[in-house]
Amino acid sequence: MYDFKIAATDKPTLYRDLASALEALVAGEPDGIANMANAAALIWESLPDLNWAGFYRNVGGELVLGPFQGRAACIRIPFGKGVCGAAAATLAVQRVDDVHAFPGHIACDAASASELVVPIVRDGVLIAVLDLDSPNKARFDGEDEAGCIKLGEILARAI
Ligand code: SME
Repeated sequence: MYDFKIAATDKPTLYRDLASALEALVAGEPDGIANMANAAALIWESLPDLNWAGFYRNVGGELVLGPFQGRAACIRIPFGKGVCGAAAATLAVQRVDDVHAFPGHIACDAASASELVVPIVRDGVLIAVLDLDSPNKARFDGEDEAGCIKLGEILARAI
């Protein structure tokens, strides 16, 4: 049984504990889908105020839904479309305080209000994006962004 209790109250400690737990969870496991599935579950359980946490994979230049927690979501997203597509096309983190003001935002769940998308890149190639959605506006700050970039670096070696 895996029982990671991550209960830090300040974000730097929370993300440090989360990164350690993720390292432990993926250690020695070469299957990327399994590692994405466990990562989505760990993030979902550890971060408050999310309504979706998971992955879109780069499959031949198109984003295709990967392991996630939350409501059923759109399956295919072209590069350049919506928040995930912008992250894929630019390889830049997208932190959006109000998704309804983001041009081309894809509303998979009308409850989503803010979003953080981190490209996962290995050897300069996009492998996937980590997508976190929240029902709260401006849920994600710079500390969330830095913490999730670190998670993305761990995942780049594990998926
Ligand atoms: N809202 C995203 C689509 C993916 S879902 O949020 C799970 C976007 O605009 O890229």
